[in-house]
Amino acid sequence: MKITIFGVGYVGLVQAAVFADVGHDVCCVDVDAVKIEGLQVGTIPIYESGLESLVEAGVTSSRLHFTTDLKEGVAHAQVYFIAVGTPPDEDGSADLRYVLSVAETIAQGMDGEAIIVNKSTVPVGTGDKVRARVESVLQERGVNIPFSVVSNPEFLKEGSALADCARPERIIIGTDSPYAEEVMREIYAPFSRNREKMLVMDQRSAEFTKYAANCMLATKISFMNEMANLAECMSADIEQVRRGIGSDSRIGYSFIYPGCGYGGSCFPKDVQALARSAGEYGYNAAILSAVEETNARQKEKIFKYIVQHYGVENIRGKTLALWGLSFKPDTDDMREAPSRVLLEALWQAGAKVHAYDPEAMEEAQRIYGYRSDLTLMGTKEAVLQGADALLIVTEWKHFRVPDFELLQSSLADRVIFDGRNLYDPQSVEQLGLAYYGIGRGRSCRQ
Ligand code: UDX
Repeated sequence: MKITIFGVGYVGLVQAAVFADVGHDVCCVDVDAVKIEGLQVGTIPIYESGLESLVEAGVTSSRLHFTTDLKEGVAHAQVYFIAVGTPPDEDGSADLRYVLSVAETIAQGMDGEAIIVNKSTVPVGTGDKVRARVESVLQERGVNIPFSVVSNPEFLKEGSALADCARPERIIIGTDSPYAEEVMREIYAPFSRNREKMLVMDQRSAEFTKYAANCMLATKISFMNEMANLAECMSADIEQVRRGIGSDSRIGYSFIYPGCGYGGSCFPKDVQALARSAGEYGYNAAILSAVEETNARQKEKIFKYIVQHYGVENIRGKTLALWGLSFKPDTDDMREAPSRVLLEALWQAGAKVHAYDPEAMEEAQRIYGYRSDLTLMGTKEAVLQGADALLIVTEWKHFRVPDFELLQSSLADRVIFDGRNLYDPQSVEQLGLAYYGIGRGRSCRQ
């Protein structure tokens, strides 16, 4: 089936490569010429395991091609996926400029019955705006071409985006058009071979499903972080509590890991956007504001421990080793990463940082450029040399089993601040290192 995807960001590119892989003929359009030229010669703009070879295979088989020519993109197919960005406005609501401008482009060029699929995360009601924009362009053109607008939100996680896309748990389709439903079933048939994954619903419910899912997950994390903070007050250990509650199948073990806050491109943006939308309907979604507030506080947590340990006046001149810059493992993405809040606070207090991350070093370099209080180093061991303490911000796998003797001999102040609860506080303390985890009762030395 011929498909055109507008926007080769994370979502658009991954979806395009996966569609091409199952045999669809996919044209990707983006206004960013540098990105498109890169993709034409196999340069992938993001880090995502397996993506490069899948794109290469798509290009070699001629089922995947890239262009900046909008008209070519519209002419290629009659099914159009919109996967452009919806960056937050100053007030936190999603900016629909790019989505609507793609809708306009499609309307200007389409000449047969079209299906316009919204894949970007957009506020409830955006489908109606897309429809209105297309109708008005068609009217200007003086033509009457039938079309449907479909909401089809993505549920990709960075780091496992390909697997999430190729083996989705569910495919949400929001439309009231039987024709659009039939076409979407055909497009997604290769992904529903063992079990029907498609849930067809009205457009607004589909749009809302995406926000409700992300806000639920963000709430789970903030809830656990709040429990972790309480555990500290009560001298309980949140890691034991986590296992205790996870064993209840109604709660489950996943997504209840306390830490130094969630980041990334989705949760912060979507929680904020849904809270904003609620406000526009005159409804105060108190739980969403609490989730946001808790997360903002949680991102300051490691710095608070550092202050508690040293006293705020003694941080100046310290050199701190930092493990993990990306907002989570297996990505180089630093958007809304807790590491950024920590770095700013440390610099403000006059500390120097030696930082290491397996993938996000270039990104950190791009964000911060050269500064005398940040040294990016090539290994997790290198940052320890000459450091006073270790800070762990992202739970990359190979931070889980460190050389504790090396830590003990390298860190002048013999202290670890662990924002991801990677170690057992007692064993670390037995080795002669002080240890601060999140919500670990007395070990946090309240
Ligand atoms: C998320 C959703 O999972 C995905 O369905 C949606 O489409 C986009 O947003 P992503 O942002 O890639 O995906 O990352 P995810 O793995 O969900 O983690 C988000 C953040 O939550 C990370 O900062 C992570 O460290 C944090 N987290 C996650 C916790 O602090 N505790 C947990 O138990 C789980």
